[in-house]
Amino acid sequence: MSAEREHFSSRLGFILAAAGSAVGIGNMVGFPVAATKNGGGAFLLIYAIFVMFICIPIMLAEMGLGRKTQADPHGAYTGIAGSKSPWRFAGWLAVITPFMIGVFYMVITVWILGYLLATVTGNLSVIANPEHFGVFINSPTVFLYLIAVAAVIYAVLVMGVRRGIERAARVLMPALLIMLLFMVVFVLNLDNAFAGVQFYLIPDFSKVTGSVVSGALSQAFFSLSLGMGILITYGSYLRKHNDLVGSAKLVAIADSLVAFTAGLMVLPAIFAINPDTNPAELSESSVAMIFTFLPQIFLELSNTLGYLGASIIATIFFTLVFFAAITSLVSIIEVPTATIVRKYNVSRQKALAALALTMGTLTLIATASFGMLSFFTDFVSYGGSRHSFFDLIYDVFYDTVLPLNGLLICLFVIWVWRRQNFDAELSQGNESYAQSFLKRYVDFSLKTFIPVILAIIFFNTVLDIFFDKALF
Ligand code: PHE
Repeated sequence: MSAEREHFSSRLGFILAAAGSAVGIGNMVGFPVAATKNGGGAFLLIYAIFVMFICIPIMLAEMGLGRKTQADPHGAYTGIAGSKSPWRFAGWLAVITPFMIGVFYMVITVWILGYLLATVTGNLSVIANPEHFGVFINSPTVFLYLIAVAAVIYAVLVMGVRRGIERAARVLMPALLIMLLFMVVFVLNLDNAFAGVQFYLIPDFSKVTGSVVSGALSQAFFSLSLGMGILITYGSYLRKHNDLVGSAKLVAIADSLVAFTAGLMVLPAIFAINPDTNPAELSESSVAMIFTFLPQIFLELSNTLGYLGASIIATIFFTLVFFAAITSLVSIIEVPTATIVRKYNVSRQKALAALALTMGTLTLIATASFGMLSFFTDFVSYGGSRHSFFDLIYDVFYDTVLPLNGLLICLFVIWVWRRQNFDAELSQGNESYAQSFLKRYVDFSLKTFIPVILAIIFFNTVLDIFFDKALF
């Protein structure tokens, strides 16, 4: 099959698609709020250190493994270790993870579409009512939006790598950037915006605790779409002569810059419009921020811009987040799609139909686990409290399994695939890599402290979530 494997048309196509995956809901709201609450500039510094020293080596491991094997995660692990090797379970885990994370990401994307359509149709005042969110997520219309989002994702993925994934990224990513820059310029020109910039940037090291540090690493991991098999899969669509190392660096820089820039939009907006906001009270959850807090902020803009002006700003914001979510969702669902196509030798249409049925059912259940169906709303007990089906997916896959997948990749690349093969793969398309300091650093870190750190984070998360006993 590999001879006919589709590839991105150019290195730029790959970078845009990988950046499209990386830039998502996490960048737009998760990052800015985490930074403000957890020490401003101090958090930014820790985050940047993690991206450079921990995430880039893992990115290279994932992309290199994908390009070498020209396969999805399951094909990559079994291609190197053999189809009977126990590593095939790591391969399956790296396929099931995006499958399950896709379910929760889909639910949130569906809500974003709902809020986007509400602002477009002049209903900003409705969504600005904090009570609205609970009513909205339990209304039957969410199922219509679910069908709409699924149709968009299907339309992109069925077209394949170049005409689907790459083309969507080529349109959506520049559009996203333009909207983001427009919003930043607009927000920074509001009176009192500077207060928000201060909260965001001035370092406060006293806020930095063990859990802030580990939270920064999790945020960086999620934001760069690591541990999800995505970069293995996208790497498999990269040609041998393309510079993989340079591309990985650019993706990491682009993702971090977008996250940083989003902070210049979200926080100054909050403090300009509502100067009495206490940063400690900002909700940690992106969901509460997007769906209850920000709509109120946008509505307050009507005082100066009029209702239409405020609605336009809110529409631009939700379009921005929606575009970011769509390119991420595409990348998440491409992983199981590519796996099914290769393993069962079927067309993309068939693979997507199978996913629509299975993921679709789980997404319906997750959507209904906020009250509509009490069995799934009050689904399981762990860590001393009851949790919904949605919470379970989030806690198990997002919080717990991501660092585990990262750990498995490091161990696999160094101990099974072997350093020399890994180095040789990365040197293709980048002749200077073999002699570089980066190469020595990547090899050393993947062999020593990165797996140790990921193992500690994994165990701590398990203790924290399931036993309510975190070490830090
Ligand atoms: N990286 C994306 C974000 O920051 C989300 C994402 C997660 C995308 C997992 C793909 C896979 O929101």
